[in-house]
Amino acid sequence: VIKHALAVINGPNLNLLGLREPHLYGNKTLAIICADLQQEFISQAELTFFQSNHEGAIIDFIHACLGKVSGMVINPGAYAHTSIAIRDAIAATAIPCVEVHLSNIFARENFRQESIVASSCLGLICGFGAQSYSLGVRALLPHI
Ligand code: DQA
Repeated sequence: VIKHALAVINGPNLNLLGLREPHLYGNKTLAIICADLQQEFISQAELTFFQSNHEGAIIDFIHACLGKVSGMVINPGAYAHTSIAIRDAIAATAIPCVEVHLSNIFARENFRQESIVASSCLGLICGFGAQSYSLGVRALLPHI
């Protein structure tokens, strides 16, 4: 069985999951979410996890995915709403990518109701808490 190499990328403040506004983002830490995700897809995918609070570091990591992974799932955090540069990095690599968010960004403040990054992704999944990551990997697999 061939296992697909996939990257799961998390942007700013997601290192504080579990502590951070649990009413919005739940009680699970990012480490737990990542471990559960790898377990769930153990037979299909080998996941590489990356988190950074720095826009440029996220862009560097996306570039480094070229030739190494066949798909990406990204929760860009607030950079979803601001970062043309992350959007362009995903487009530049042409690696299939799914954007995910824990919260339903369309049910929140106006400034969250647009994603710049989504236009370089296959699609966007949001509002399902930690399950958004799982749905993201499931959505990605048929495209790689
Ligand atoms: C988030 C939604 C963003 O608007 C916010 O800035 C985050 C978390 C989510 O997963 O729901 O940092 O990406």
